[in-house]
Amino acid sequence: IPNDFQQMIDAHDLLRKFYHHLLVNTKDGQHALEYLLSRGFTIEAIEKFQIGYSLNSWDFVYKFLTKRNFPPDVMERAGLVIKRERDGTYFDRFRDRIMFPILDHKGNTIAFSGRSLGSDEPKYLNSPETAIFNKSKILYNFHQARASIKKTNQIVLFEGFADVIAADRSGVHNGVATMGTSLTDDHIVSIRRSAEAVTICYDGDKAGIEAAYRASQLLHSSGIQVRVAILPDGMDPDDYIRQNGEEKFQNEIISASVTLMNFKLRYLRRGKDLNNEGIRLQYIEEVLKEISQLEKVVERDHYLRQLASEFSLSLDALKQQQKQFFFANK
Ligand code: GTP
Ligand code: MN
Ligand code: MN
Ligand code: MN
Ligand code: MN
Repeated sequence: IPNDFQQMIDAHDLLRKFYHHLLVNTKDGQHALEYLLSRGFTIEAIEKFQIGYSLNSWDFVYKFLTKRNFPPDVMERAGLVIKRERDGTYFDRFRDRIMFPILDHKGNTIAFSGRSLGSDEPKYLNSPETAIFNKSKILYNFHQARASIKKTNQIVLFEGFADVIAADRSGVHNGVATMGTSLTDDHIVSIRRSAEAVTICYDGDKAGIEAAYRASQLLHSSGIQVRVAILPDGMDPDDYIRQNGEEKFQNEIISASVTLMNFKLRYLRRGKDLNNEGIRLQYIEEVLKEISQLEKVVERDHYLRQLASEFSLSLDALKQQQKQFFFANK
């Protein structure tokens, strides 16, 4: 590691500890701590995820790091301070935010994501891309989740930091999240290296469902076994756990996750009135096309039976039609 990179990491590690201290031990951080506790974060989680608080100051970080002999240009390239065009002075990027440290796969602190306490925009402010932080490669919590991923040979993929942390409290220790971006090829490479199966557990809103559909296709085509956990309308995992408890999340969301095919079927029928004959027939045809894409005869048979029974159709007719699609694919 070049000396420069090591300095950037050291600055982040020092700040991670100090932000955390400000949150848990000081009067300045008290309102932030109360906010987190009121949202259901526990002290244990705040410790485990090293959550912190950045002061409502324009130059706290600048002074803190200057005192410890970090050059301003290193702070700037690390994304911790921003240079003013006008006079070349610097100001802190993160002010009055809940600080989530982002660790790389080795456990170095390489970035932060700061959540606003009120309704200030943006809700989450991330470190910029730097020499040590590449958003499209990093999976939040991968470092801590690693042991559990290895043990279970599985990863649970979330949308947000709060979801990973709430799930961890309910016993799901193999959870990771992207940094608010969609899943990239680099993410998929790290996932495939460490586990054979992924359960996607995105938010139960339109954006989450669309993103889950896209992620499921990408993961499946790179040879990963995919299941999808379905959240009630408009809820994310963190909301769900707060409302229904940790046990229900395990039993009714994670353990009740559906296969990729069943998720696709749900996806295809979203917003469709299946009592309407034309729409129903069109849906059945779409499902048959999906079934014909399956490689295993046994799987095709399973979903054909499921379809036949749901719509009281003859299995023979479905089989015949499905075969036509199957040979059209070849
Ligand atoms: P909470 O409101 O704290 O529960 O956040 P959430 O995780 O439920 O947020 P949401 O579902 O809106 O977004 C999911 C993830 O997208 C977040 O965890 C962030 O990583 C990212 N994200 C959300 N809002 C912003 C934003 O304003 N800017 C950026 N850069 N990322 C965001
Ligand atoms: Mn501590
Ligand atoms: Mn969301
Ligand atoms: Mn959410
Ligand atoms: Mn949320």
